[in-house]
Amino acid sequence: MGNKTPVIAGNWKMHTTLSEAVDLVTKIGQGTDKGWRVETIVCPPFISLAKLKELTAGTPIELGAQDVFYEEIGAYTGEISPGMLSGLCRYVIVGHSERRMYFCETDETVNRKLKASIKHGLRPIMCVGENLTENESSNAESVISRQIKEGLKGIESAELLIAYEPIWAIGTGKAATAAYANNIMGLIRNLLKGLFGSEAALNIPLLYGGSVNASNITELLSQPEVDGALVGGASLKADQFLSILKQAG
Ligand code: G3P
Repeated sequence: MGNKTPVIAGNWKMHTTLSEAVDLVTKIGQGTDKGWRVETIVCPPFISLAKLKELTAGTPIELGAQDVFYEEIGAYTGEISPGMLSGLCRYVIVGHSERRMYFCETDETVNRKLKASIKHGLRPIMCVGENLTENESSNAESVISRQIKEGLKGIESAELLIAYEPIWAIGTGKAATAAYANNIMGLIRNLLKGLFGSEAALNIPLLYGGSVNASNITELLSQPEVDGALVGGASLKADQFLSILKQAG
């Protein structure tokens, strides 16, 4: 990871009511030591963003949304535009495997969402990762290359983060080994160098996601290509998330 500030993002997924979100962010805020050198991001459900923006003002906690639509405005029932998010949060997760799997997102829709987010000044956290079959058939590298190249087609701004989340490691308690994650993230870094040039690519934070917890975060962050983590389950427990932040910072 070198000398960069680590980035730890909590993806709360479809968990927390508004009051539970307030409670969780309050506990995280109270437990955070301002001396920790870590970029802390929490991504609650849309309904809690406005309240959490008030509560996190002036704290080291940044907010992210879990998704965004690519159109600016119009008859798209249920969708949230990047313009709606731009005053509420700094980050947005784009192309999470659960969106690709359950909501039919493709490399093309991910690409459109990334472009729309960047246009509105949001910093996307673009997710990529192979499933178990692709992993077992040694196709991880080709799947990830395709996701990166297609997802980033026509994008010139390097103001984004990439989260490598092998699908087989999400919510399973079986994280990728640090060495395996580092290897794939090295491939991602090389692809980014080809797209954005070496210097810009080195500055793009690469996060690992998939069963990250307080016991494996230090080893993951010790890898040269791992700049941070996108944490699911363990970000819903204040004590666990704080332990991850403390070890990162
Ligand atoms: O986006 C984070 C996520 O997919 C990983 O979830 O529960 O395995 O940490 P989890």
